[in-house]
Amino acid sequence: MGHYLLTGCAGFIASNVAKVLLDQGHLVTGIDDMSDGYDPVLKHWRLRQLEGIEAFRFERADIRDIAALGPLFDTDFDGVISLAARAGVRQSVDNPWIYVETNYGGTLNLLELCKERGVGKFVLASTSSVYGNDTIPPFKEDAATSMPLSPYASTKKAAETLAHTYHHLFGIDVTVLRFFTVYGPAGRPDMSVYRFTRAIAEDMPIHLYGDGGERDYTHVDDIALGVAASIEPVGYEIINLGSDNPARITRVISIIENTLGKKAAVEHQSRHSADVQSTWADITKAARLLDWRPQTGLETGVEGAVKWYMDQRDWAKDIVA
Ligand SMILES: NC(=O)c1ccc[n+]([C@@H]2O[C@H](COP(=O)([O-])OP(=O)(O)OC[C@H]3O[C@@H](n4cnc5c(N)ncnc54)[C@H](O)[C@@H]3O)[C@@H](O)[C@H]2O)c1
Repeated sequence: MGHYLLTGCAGFIASNVAKVLLDQGHLVTGIDDMSDGYDPVLKHWRLRQLEGIEAFRFERADIRDIAALGPLFDTDFDGVISLAARAGVRQSVDNPWIYVETNYGGTLNLLELCKERGVGKFVLASTSSVYGNDTIPPFKEDAATSMPLSPYASTKKAAETLAHTYHHLFGIDVTVLRFFTVYGPAGRPDMSVYRFTRAIAEDMPIHLYGDGGERDYTHVDDIALGVAASIEPVGYEIINLGSDNPARITRVISIIENTLGKKAAVEHQSRHSADVQSTWADITKAARLLDWRPQTGLETGVEGAVKWYMDQRDWAKDIVA
């Protein structure tokens, strides 16, 4: 059993990764800066689900601040799992600086500390957004990714390359995971499943950009298992984690409508040029290297996310992105 530093631990995906690692018997030190990229009330709720687990420790820390991170590395970690990031595509157009500082600068700080303190394993969260608009689906990891459409995608691509540099120069074993549209209970409030559920439940219009496109929606339980599987040594590998089953956004809307028993009021807006049109993961490599296959179908998964919202509705209805 190992001891892992998990960054972005109050976030949607990392809080689920923490649960899986703890269930598997690992020790987890989670860090997060609890910043207000979206409402921190949701982040505090997620952390409360981990409170009281003996093998879990939480520290509030900012990955942009290398001096503050240093003392954490007095612990002899078996690996760093880095999910902390600024994660919104459209938001990154408004404030690209914080994306560069967090997603690139923060990754640099963590890699430097791994080098200095002899931590041999680094897992980095990346994104399907790096594939841009010109990749032939299903997207394979060796497709060209040098034409990102948003500052977010650009910073993630840059972080991938930095991790490669630290692997090459200092022998750090690196797994880069490209996640595809992750959804589930207590999901990100700026993403479609939460936004649409809240809007339909609270009788507000939903905003659809362009025709909404197609996304390879992937359930957070599957993603968390994939992240936990990626702590094994691989050298340097980039691995897609997606459902390999893309769906139109309109299909997601109808599952939410059916679960809530209410119709959406749709307001159409033009597609944002930072958004990719569609995503679809080739997951052959994940199956081969991680023995990973997604298990949760879209209908069951979205129903579960809607149920979570209805159970938590008294406070979840006030969460804004
Ligand atoms: N959700 C998705 O569909 C998706 C898709 C592709 C990639 N990803 C990537 O997966 C990772 C997790 O995403 P998520 O959806 O859980 O997002 P999230 O925003 O819920 O989680 C990220 C966490 O990082 C924290 N954070 C931000 N800046 C920080 C800093 N300077 N120091 C410490 N913590 C900081 C935030 O407070 C947040 O809790 C991110 O790297 C994201 O880019 C997510």
